[in-house]
Amino acid sequence: MARHRIAILPGDGIGRDVMDAAKIVLDKLKLDAEYIPGDVGWEFWKSEGNALPERTSKLLRNTDCCLFGAITSKSKEDSEKELNPELKDKGYSYYSPIVKLRQEFNLHTNMRPCKAYKGNPLNFRDDIDLVVFRENTEGLYSGVEYYPLPDELMAVLAKHPRMKRFTTVPLEDIALSCRIITRTGARTIIRQAFEYARKSGRKNVTLVEKPNVLRETGGLMLHEARDIVSEYPGIELQEVNIDAMCMWLVKNPQDYQVLVCANLFGDITSDLCAQLVGGLGFAPSANIGNNYAIFEPTHGSAPKYTGQYKVNPMAMLLTVKLMLDYLGESELSGRLEEAIARVIKEGKIRTYDIGGNASTLEVAEEVTRNLAL
Ligand code: IPM
Ligand code: MG
Repeated sequence: MARHRIAILPGDGIGRDVMDAAKIVLDKLKLDAEYIPGDVGWEFWKSEGNALPERTSKLLRNTDCCLFGAITSKSKEDSEKELNPELKDKGYSYYSPIVKLRQEFNLHTNMRPCKAYKGNPLNFRDDIDLVVFRENTEGLYSGVEYYPLPDELMAVLAKHPRMKRFTTVPLEDIALSCRIITRTGARTIIRQAFEYARKSGRKNVTLVEKPNVLRETGGLMLHEARDIVSEYPGIELQEVNIDAMCMWLVKNPQDYQVLVCANLFGDITSDLCAQLVGGLGFAPSANIGNNYAIFEPTHGSAPKYTGQYKVNPMAMLLTVKLMLDYLGESELSGRLEEAIARVIKEGKIRTYDIGGNASTLEVAEEVTRNLAL
């Protein structure tokens, strides 16, 4: 029996292109693993009314971790238009499968390293090396949303003094999305950020919030962060508002090491940070829980490039590195990162986004050649 059982979910669009690149590298590394493919994504929404079939969740429950490609997510209105006509009006409603997976498997921590590898012409600066810790199961992604606003909910909300001015608005003219933050959720992600800072020798953690306006949810994050920092002597807590943070990250990104954010702020911040180190083609991510983990590049499914093997696989290959770390394969992980760094630095084989004309798979092959060195 293989040492690791890994579920493989290529998903939509270029998910398959980058997954093929990952396989080339994993084969060359001779990771002792069994790979089990599964169904997820838009075609299953259209044909079955479920982008994440139950058989896929079951598959994941029987594996050690999952490597995920990319996913197409559309709004409620747009997704309903594409559902198989026979399934229409049967109560199916689209919900992003990756968001669902993060919640179903309680993958509370989304870790998104953004590191400038030397020689990447798209680096905003060459000295950026930061990691975003994004809370991954709650906040504005909790999925507790209403439209129209139910009567009984309005009756309760109307007791809030700041709700008064909305009470005359017709219920079918109000939509509500709840930002739910629990103390456990807040403490878990903040602790993960501090633990990472401690293990990696980083000296500060920045809480990216907005407690001056989001007084209760932002306030809870701030309160818990101020409590937890006391357990980490030598590591400083910086508190920066999300809007100011976007400015500081463009002004002085090298000053930041570990960022910790609630779900939506982390989603936004991690795209910004990705662009500082060459764009989404260089941004890996890991969704980690207590018993399971899903590894996926931060980028989306880029439908217009589907099957063209044109996109940059580096984000996916760096994601494979995170997976190897999780599986305890530190020697392979180290070799892979060195090979990736060397290919970026040499700059001979590059995809279109960095001014080259190599294919997705040619970049993966070049990385494997460097593994052998
Ligand atoms: C991400 C993506 C997802 C998210 C989408 C595809 C639902 O943007 O992983 O950052 O919003 O979390
Ligand atoms: Mg995102």
